[in-house]
Amino acid sequence: QMVAGPPAREPTTQRKHRAQIRARTLRTDRWWLGPLATFLGLTGFVVYGLWAAFDPDYFAEPYIAPFSSPCLASSCPEGARLFGWAPVGDWWVLPPALLILAFPGGFRLTCYYYRKAYYRSFWLSPPACAVNEPHRKYTGERRFPLIIQNIHRYFWYVALLIGAILTFDAILAFRDENGNWGHIGLGTVILVVNAALIVLYTISCHSCRHIVAGRLNHFSRHPLRYKAWTYISKLNAKHQQLAWASLVSVIVADLYVRLVAKGIIDFPFA
Ligand code: FES
Repeated sequence: QMVAGPPAREPTTQRKHRAQIRARTLRTDRWWLGPLATFLGLTGFVVYGLWAAFDPDYFAEPYIAPFSSPCLASSCPEGARLFGWAPVGDWWVLPPALLILAFPGGFRLTCYYYRKAYYRSFWLSPPACAVNEPHRKYTGERRFPLIIQNIHRYFWYVALLIGAILTFDAILAFRDENGNWGHIGLGTVILVVNAALIVLYTISCHSCRHIVAGRLNHFSRHPLRYKAWTYISKLNAKHQQLAWASLVSVIVADLYVRLVAKGIIDFPFA
């Protein structure tokens, strides 16, 4: 005997009993403030990053600007190189920052939080909750090109390495120009705070949480991974705040080093 299944449902957007509201939104609060602030913040970050990538003053012994670290080209000053290493030879004539910026940039671009932020503020898809979007079609992230966002988990490994390198740079900032340990300047403090925020942002990542203990059926059989997962889960709840804090800190640290390198900041505790 055939049993009739439930009637096929119309797509949600076409249900006849849906309220026919012509207004784009019925919200009366200033819902546009959040997307606008995000738009301005992220645009500022991109503009600064483009300027910094081409700025030649990225090294002021013992400080190296985070946007140009690790410095891998043979054009990098001796003290700016990672372990004195310059794997990219003379053939690279562009600024050294261009060798590496795609990695932290790609990590942020594909970050789950930033995705939400720029889908709303740049793409208006939708700009805010209960505000209609201008697009007629929605295919989500299951198709090209947005399916590429899945690359985020691989960027994470590189971001972890860059976080370690920035931490190393911050430790080296405790040396003076002659290589003696014990130097502490405003730059040292700024680089340490920045490295800490970058590392916290990196390990609060959703992919990190999954890499640490995702797909485990029995937490009890993996106590260490479970412990790490509980810490990361707490940090993960603050991922948005860490995304912004580390974005601001990396600009402040980068700009500070460049201003010292240019001689614009020049005082005893620089
Ligand atoms: Fe934001 Fe991974 S989700 S860095």
